[in-house]
Amino acid sequence: TDPVARRLSFAALGVLGPTSGLRAAGSVLFAVAAAAVSAEAVKKAAVARRGASTLRTGAVATAQDGARRTAAPQMTATTSTTVQTEADAAATKIWAEQWWPLGFAAHTSRAAPVAVTLLGAPLVVWWDDSAGAWRCTLDRCSHRLAPLSEGRVTSDGCIECPYHGWAFDGQGQCVRVPQQEEGSAPCRSRRAAVLALPIMEAQGVIWVWGGGLFESAAVTPPEESGPALVDVLERPGVEHSDYSRDLHMDWSTLCENVMDPAHLPFTHHKTISRRSKAAPISFGALENFSHTGFTAVRQTAGGPGRLTFRAPLLVLAETHRGPDSYSDWNVVYAVPTEPGRCRLLVRVVFEVSKLPIPLKWVLSFAFTKQPTWWTHLGTHQILEDDNPFLHAQGHAYRAGHATKLAPDWKRRLYMPTASDGMVVAFRRWLDAYSDGEGALWSRVAPTTETPLRRASKEEVLERYLSHVAHCSACSGALRNIRTTMRLAEGGVVLGLLLAALLRARPAALALAALSFGVARLCAVLDARMRVGRYPPPRNVS
Ligand code: FES
Ligand SMILES: [Fe+2]
Repeated sequence: TDPVARRLSFAALGVLGPTSGLRAAGSVLFAVAAAAVSAEAVKKAAVARRGASTLRTGAVATAQDGARRTAAPQMTATTSTTVQTEADAAATKIWAEQWWPLGFAAHTSRAAPVAVTLLGAPLVVWWDDSAGAWRCTLDRCSHRLAPLSEGRVTSDGCIECPYHGWAFDGQGQCVRVPQQEEGSAPCRSRRAAVLALPIMEAQGVIWVWGGGLFESAAVTPPEESGPALVDVLERPGVEHSDYSRDLHMDWSTLCENVMDPAHLPFTHHKTISRRSKAAPISFGALENFSHTGFTAVRQTAGGPGRLTFRAPLLVLAETHRGPDSYSDWNVVYAVPTEPGRCRLLVRVVFEVSKLPIPLKWVLSFAFTKQPTWWTHLGTHQILEDDNPFLHAQGHAYRAGHATKLAPDWKRRLYMPTASDGMVVAFRRWLDAYSDGEGALWSRVAPTTETPLRRASKEEVLERYLSHVAHCSACSGALRNIRTTMRLAEGGVVLGLLLAALLRARPAALALAALSFGVARLCAVLDARMRVGRYPPPRNVS
């Protein structure tokens, strides 16, 4: 039933069949199987394109809202005409006046515009080679709202709309309207501009300032503002690996998961932990609890450490493995994209210089020499230990809220042990500073009242749209894998032909066998790049 094996056996029959009739039948069957593969590939590409467009437009503006926003771009700080409450002002500070991480610079394509979603707003990011800088605007053309991310970057560093060719610079100004009559100047109208967001690269991450998405927030970042950088990355002897993925869970579900070390031995049994490692976990008193987050020391089986929530986007977990041993850090950025969805950016950091040998050699190789796409394949599996049930858990939280069944989390959840200390602190933070809800949504997005659909297991385990499509390392590797697979399939046919025509049969058959092995390996890697496996390793005996 294996399609590759079936095609190869038809090819073998066509070349080596004992009678001319069987050889003719083999050739016909091979041609039919090859045609079926091409038709299937065309169908899959169409499905992938449809999926990609859903991802890009999943929480977009209504045409009216988008038009209002693109028609009146905010170029200076504005103040809402309504009087703001203190809580509203705090929420604006927390959610809007924030540098948000959108992706890792090394994994983001500089060759084409990239669509991203932040707080419900569709954005496009591109690399302006002429200025040597990243650019970001709303992903909606001011003309008739076509997504600019479907267009191209021109040689002068502008983004050109795919529909009628209007072009916009990094400040959102319209610089070309191809249909414009000679002498007239529609570009000078403010209505021609698109909203541009301040953007920068720091510590290898692309950050945008979210103020422009909210009516009452500062559009330009204040001097003292800065992204949530992590000092430990600058330490000598420290190495890290980076990974990002779009997840079918709310930003808050992801934060809560990272604050909860008790899940590791059970959820990640056989991947990064073991059930036998389960033990009581304790946290010290909460420190610095404010709208900017909180922190506390903790004691786990791995050693003492600290957990810090830098609101609303960073959870930093550090563990010290002993006085003369190494430390490691889990740096997790949780970016609210749409209601019920978020983007994860994680940096796994190890003090490699203090690791015992041979672990030091192994991790040094993994962090500095191993191909990024191979590291990402391994990280997918760890994420997929949690993803399916976290999606269901997050859905249950929201459904409980919508149906007004025990809306108070203190009655809805039962958390009697100290290991849930940080989860309780996080829920208290949400109550105190975010109305118990989490992310405020941009004016250009649907509200949190939007009913959420339960995603299927296939959608939750899907790897291509959630990672490969926006990871330049993995999309490049996937292209190479597919090219190698085609060449290897050609090698099988060539080997069989040579075996039939020449005297050097063993060498030709060896070529065919080797090519077959390479084609099979590529087919497996191709599948791993597109979807994860189920059930997870913990449930496989
Ligand atoms: S919609 Fe963009 S140029 Fe017409
Ligand atoms: Fe990747």
